[in-house]
Amino acid sequence: MPSLSTRTELFTESVIRMMTRISNQYGAINLSQGFPDFAPPEKLTRKLQELSVEGPHQYALTWGAQNFREALSDKYLHFSGMKFDPDSEIVVTCGSTEAMMAAMMSVCNPGDKVIVFSPFYENYGADTILSGAEPIYVSLNPPEFNFNPDELEAAFKQKPKAIVICNPSNPSGKVFTREELTYIADLAKKYDAWAIMDEVYEHILYAPNTHTYMFSLPGMRERTIVCSSLSKTYSITGWRLGYIIAPPQVIDRAKKVHDFLTVGAPAPLQEAAVTALKFGDEYYKELQKHYTHMKNLFVGGLDALNLKYTDPQGAYYVLMDISEFGYDNDEMFCVDLAKKVGIGTVPGSSFFREPVNHLIRFHFAKKDETLNEALDRLADIRKKMQK
Ligand SMILES: Cc1ncc(COP(=O)(O)O)c(C=O)c1O
Repeated sequence: MPSLSTRTELFTESVIRMMTRISNQYGAINLSQGFPDFAPPEKLTRKLQELSVEGPHQYALTWGAQNFREALSDKYLHFSGMKFDPDSEIVVTCGSTEAMMAAMMSVCNPGDKVIVFSPFYENYGADTILSGAEPIYVSLNPPEFNFNPDELEAAFKQKPKAIVICNPSNPSGKVFTREELTYIADLAKKYDAWAIMDEVYEHILYAPNTHTYMFSLPGMRERTIVCSSLSKTYSITGWRLGYIIAPPQVIDRAKKVHDFLTVGAPAPLQEAAVTALKFGDEYYKELQKHYTHMKNLFVGGLDALNLKYTDPQGAYYVLMDISEFGYDNDEMFCVDLAKKVGIGTVPGSSFFREPVNHLIRFHFAKKDETLNEALDRLADIRKKMQK
């Protein structure tokens, strides 16, 4: 048999996908993989229905339909006050997943270093490996998930090509403050690195937290690469619509990488999604209200059961501390939780570089009835899960 690539040899099955499989096997409520179980905005699905016959059904422009990029540019102008040229500063991708891969491939050479905060969204590890880069991990320390400024500067002293920042963060729920981003920005400028921002949760925030765009900080527009998508903001994770916003020389390169990776994002879905990109402020207010309701319902239930967790500032995950249950392996805990209590979760160790195994991640973008059923099941957790 011819051999396989060494580059992908160490890839493991995504733990999130594995936990989804285990949840299904035991009939558990799947609070592991991050997708909503409620419908996307009706205006959006109605538009898609209209387009199902008239199309477009053929390739869109490889770097994204003109009206989609223009609508995106208008949306950023509205929320950030900064104007991005739809032709030279935006490329549309198949989800933020492709955006991150194309961004890394556009800026990294084999052997380059990239700073990644730990805990991290699991794709970043694979993205660095596929682009030939080496991650330098810097800890975000639980339960507050703050970084140590000296540790971060020590990482920058290793001359990384880029730093990846997930803001708001999956899995920790951390929202980086303007002060923290300014500190990171100063280091990126001092050591001449790109700031690659994963901002898929920018509109999912819990008061009083607010989103600061890295590109809006002094001197950062020219070194910030935004990777984001419509997946979370409009509850359309299956549509696979994402984008990169970056300086023209990055976009010029990313357009080519993207063309060779996927040619283009789905044309009819881009056309329909222009409707969503044009939603007014009311949509985003309602979105925050809805997420705040789901978060309060879920963490309120954890409080009532006296379970320990970190209250998220943004995104839609909660990390719960399982120390009291006496497991030394969080993966075993999650398998048992699916089997004995009927809830699918993700072992925290899959997000950490450090040997952290006392946390599990719940996802709460779910209907009230799903969350209430999950909380009912959790009521028995102490009886069923003691080692
Ligand atoms: C932090 C983060 N980035 C990117 C993604 C993937 O986004 P997309 O659906 O746009 O590929 C996810 C999905 O869970 C995520 O949590």
